[in-house]
Amino acid sequence: MSQELWSSVDEFICSLLAPEDASLEAALKAGTAAGLPPISITANQGKLLMILAHSIRARRILEIGTLGGYSTIWLARAVGPAGRVVTMEIQPAHAEVARQNVARAGCDSIVEIQVGPALDLLPGLATHDPKPFDMVFIDADKAAAPDYFAWALRLTRPGGLIVVDNVVREGNILDAESPDPSIVGIRRLYEIMSGERRAVSTAIQTVGSKGLDGFSISLVTAPA
Ligand code: SAH
Ligand code: DHB
Ligand code: MG
Repeated sequence: MSQELWSSVDEFICSLLAPEDASLEAALKAGTAAGLPPISITANQGKLLMILAHSIRARRILEIGTLGGYSTIWLARAVGPAGRVVTMEIQPAHAEVARQNVARAGCDSIVEIQVGPALDLLPGLATHDPKPFDMVFIDADKAAAPDYFAWALRLTRPGGLIVVDNVVREGNILDAESPDPSIVGIRRLYEIMSGERRAVSTAIQTVGSKGLDGFSISLVTAPA
């Protein structure tokens, strides 16, 4: 079992079930051209987010970690023209690439990109736009994943979903002694999810063109 095989299978799946249109392809190209790291979700993962959002009839989605807006476009398509996606990005240069990618995809009236450290932006969101979200996609700095999860619980309606990317990290999350803040953060997230009574959670490990990683899914069951 090899990375080459995982990538080939991802190509097979994506070509049949999650083909990218010109806007999604252009979004990745623009990210590469601007020197953004190649760490966006894959097309089949984008389609999974879209299906999850559709299945709960999501109209309002919060994303933490925009990069070049590739996942944002999938989410914007999921909520449709009357929906809203708020996405937070700490790097102004990433946010600028995302702004152009989202506009090219025709999603700029749906998507609001907020620039800054998410933990500084989230309190403002709770006051200036207090309507609950149907879904939160957490995909920023992994050290702060527990904090983002706490905010997501506060901001998501019962019946809504919280998805966290990169919860396996090539299996490095098994290392209880790891000094890596990302690993410490994700391990703490598992502990919190395991004891959290306002949400029911699981995690799935994945292989594909981005290696061995995984995502968690939490269904919010009770109001904050
Ligand atoms: N969701 C994107 C990938 C996000 S990569 C996609 O799949 O297409 C992670 C992003 O989180 C990077 O752009 C990084 O700059 C951003 N980030 C890191 N720390 C952050 C923070 N504290 N607040 C907001 N964004 C942050
Ligand atoms: C990294 C971040 C991601 O969100 C991801 O999906 C893969 C890698 C990273 O920071 O290395
Ligand atoms: Mg990620």
